[in-house]
Amino acid sequence: MSTTGQTRALTPPDIAARKGKTPLVCLTAYTTPIARLVDPHCDVVLVGDSAGMVLHGLPLTLGVTLEMMIMHGKAVRRGLERALMVVDMPFGSYEEGPDQAFRNAARMMAETGCAAVKLEGGEAVAQTIRFLAARGVPVMAHVGLTPQAVNTFGGYRVQGRGEDGERIRIDALAVAEAGAFAVVLEKVPEQLARRLTAELTIPTIGIGASPACDGQVLVVDDMLGLFGDFRPKFVKRYAELGDAASAAIAAYAHEVRERRFPAAEHVFGDAPATAKGGEAA
Ligand code: KIV
Repeated sequence: MSTTGQTRALTPPDIAARKGKTPLVCLTAYTTPIARLVDPHCDVVLVGDSAGMVLHGLPLTLGVTLEMMIMHGKAVRRGLERALMVVDMPFGSYEEGPDQAFRNAARMMAETGCAAVKLEGGEAVAQTIRFLAARGVPVMAHVGLTPQAVNTFGGYRVQGRGEDGERIRIDALAVAEAGAFAVVLEKVPEQLARRLTAELTIPTIGIGASPACDGQVLVVDDMLGLFGDFRPKFVKRYAELGDAASAAIAAYAHEVRERRFPAAEHVFGDAPATAKGGEAA
């Protein structure tokens, strides 16, 4: 049951048309059960390469492969009915140029059923975005702190403070002009995100950016409190599921050791199964 009243699946043009309107709600998902949970509430579900860190225990997103993203994309597709599914192109799958990017994005779309891909980078990938957009591959861009470039930045610092804001502005204008249907602004000063949202004609989707953005995105494991002690300033924890899971696992371990689980209601008698085909008590 959708909480948004939307009955058909959203498309990239639907998302582009939301510029300046009700804020776009976006979360990541990597598995079918989480996709089913987020779909009724979200406009965009991003199969982010953050999967490498939050699900696979990698230290960075750089080790994520096309095959990993395709596997997560297929799983998420099975859980979505109405949100637009966007899949991240992983590091090394598009930077060589338009031909490589098209080959891998086409494979991503064909194998996962996603309607759009996301690429990190600004001016440097604008030509690639133009090539893809003109050939049936809708692109969500991603500027500001782009985690695949963590080694170039020397860490996960805020990007675009002071005069450096002009670099982010040039990147954002370049990807919009190249035909991206939306752009993620990650970890940039609030005032810069606000100015860019006013200047760009495509929706901005903020993460560590500004409430003035046309939408917001968070990594679902972060906002559910499932990703350990990772507590960056831009993440609000809406639940502490990690703590709840830990307490449940401890209770199970205790009851097994005390022989209190399984209890009578969890075990089977040896009477024949009932005619209704139910489990024998
Ligand atoms: O990989 C990811 O989850 C992302 C979002 C944080 C925007 O790129």
